[in-house]
Amino acid sequence: MANLLHDLDENRDHYSRVLEQKPSLYYERFDQDLLEKQPLTKELVDKAFERLFPHKAGRLLDVGCGNAFYYPLLSRHANEIQGIDVCGPMIDEAKEAIAERGLNHCHVQEASALDLPFDDESMDVVFSWDFLHHVPDVPKTISEITRVLRPGGRYIALEPNIMNVSIAWYHFRRRSEWRLFLQNQFSIPRKLRNDFDVMVHYDNTIISFLNDRTWYIWKAADVLTSIPPFHFLSFRYFIDAVKRG
Ligand SMILES: C[S@@+](CC[C@H](N)C(=O)[O-])C[C@H]1O[C@@H](n2cnc3c(N)ncnc32)[C@H](O)[C@@H]1O
Repeated sequence: MANLLHDLDENRDHYSRVLEQKPSLYYERFDQDLLEKQPLTKELVDKAFERLFPHKAGRLLDVGCGNAFYYPLLSRHANEIQGIDVCGPMIDEAKEAIAERGLNHCHVQEASALDLPFDDESMDVVFSWDFLHHVPDVPKTISEITRVLRPGGRYIALEPNIMNVSIAWYHFRRRSEWRLFLQNQFSIPRKLRNDFDVMVHYDNTIISFLNDRTWYIWKAADVLTSIPPFHFLSFRYFIDAVKRG
């Protein structure tokens, strides 16, 4: 099984190549100007953050922050953001964009989620986006997140929903995404429940795919998945977990 799934080094190499070679995936998912180029995506992400953060967070850790292209929006919801990612080129690009945009309360560094460079109970919120299904050791990652989060703090994770056929097909076609078939809403919440009160919600915030032509398809899917039990077919699920004190 192990050689079918990306380990930490392969993960790092994969995302380094995405930045170096800039395949279509880069422009669809990681482009620093994506939110400006795609106003519909920007609106969707903006609304998602408004829903996820009804109150401004104090100190927020973004685990697996990538190149942090969404910080112009996320940064409105925390007094301080610390981002970490295991892929150096992602962090270099994030640093450049943060400096260019003058987001002085956002800081990023190269580090692994398996060994977070932060003190115990030093974060009010831990956030991750499309990260958990890539990490090679979920129990260790969760134990690190638990360690750095203060009692009563929240862990919020946005993840692809394997029950959505287009999401399942997309991930099936890419080896770098195969962990989703093991690490999803059926397995991850169980690992959090020892230390957290855990809620799982469904949501249609997507980044790639959305443009003027596909908006109507997205809208139809959004209407359909607003009706239970079709919400289980949404594009995404998110975990909202509160650490017990
Ligand atoms: C799909 S990208 C998501 C990046 C960003 N959160 C976003 O939504 O654009 C997944 C990221 O997780 C990072 N990653 C994977 N395993 C990691 C680990 N153990 N520690 C830190 N980062 C990791 C990868 O380097 C990659 O940048």
